[in-house]
Amino acid sequence: MTLMVHRLHPVRAPLIIVGNDTAGRRMAYYFRRQGRTVSAFVADEGYIHAPVLDGVPVFPIEQIETRLAPDDHEAFVAIGPSRMNRVREEKCAQMERLGYPLTHYVSESAILWDGLEPKANTRIGERSLCQPFVQLGRNVSVASACVIGHDTIVGDHVFIASGVIIGGNVTIGDHAFIGTGSVIRSKVHVGPRCVIGAGVTLLESTAPDSVYANMSARKLPITSADIQF
Ligand SMILES: CC(C)(COP(=O)(O)OP(=O)(O)OC[C@H]1O[C@@H](n2cnc3c(N)ncnc32)[C@H](O)[C@@H]1OP(=O)(O)O)[C@@H](O)C(=O)NCCC(=O)NCCS
Repeated sequence: MTLMVHRLHPVRAPLIIVGNDTAGRRMAYYFRRQGRTVSAFVADEGYIHAPVLDGVPVFPIEQIETRLAPDDHEAFVAIGPSRMNRVREEKCAQMERLGYPLTHYVSESAILWDGLEPKANTRIGERSLCQPFVQLGRNVSVASACVIGHDTIVGDHVFIASGVIIGGNVTIGDHAFIGTGSVIRSKVHVGPRCVIGAGVTLLESTAPDSVYANMSARKLPITSADIQF
């Protein structure tokens, strides 16, 4: 068993990025850094802000079949956790119905155990670590600097924000959202569609659809000029 830094893909088909907001722009940047060509951004008509983004054409998803053939392209849906990850899920289904294979993204600096095969539309960001026997479902977004502990099983359409630490033998249900910097204890089961807020330390299993929030830090009745470092 070896943990390995994921190596670059061999030359692959040009990409269509679904989404022209910050997530789409960022994913295009990441894919291009891996040597991939981005042919277009597509989005629902009402969400298009400009006809070109970073030198790449942007057009409505309805025009895709007449402009870019499915046989020659792969797609990636770069949309955040909106509506408990359902917007991203729906766009994945739409692209697959239209015949565009969904690719995945793994940062060169991510470390995965060698049995982990990222599924369709899954992304694993910079310096994230997936320990041995971790399984990730379809359309899972793992942002930067996360640690996913051994034997953890993540369902489909899950969003894991940056800096999340997940212990070993955890299960995360479909459509869950795990907020920035949260910590999930080993052997905990996070139910489907749960929201684990930023900075939460979760020590217990959760019922489906639960929301957990952290307390914000206390503001002191002084200013920084009063601090004597
Ligand atoms: C937990 C979290 C999801 C709450 O979401 P939110 O949009 O802030 O929710 P709201 O502020 O509308 O709060 C909903 C209700 O819960 C209450 N609530 C929120 N946080 C609370 C807290 N820490 N303690 C007690 N009540 C709280 C609110 O008062 C509100 O009640 P009300 O409707 O009676 O006023 C949010 O704080 C969070 O942590 N989001 C994750 C952000 C993140 O990690 N993003 C990553 C990049 S995508």
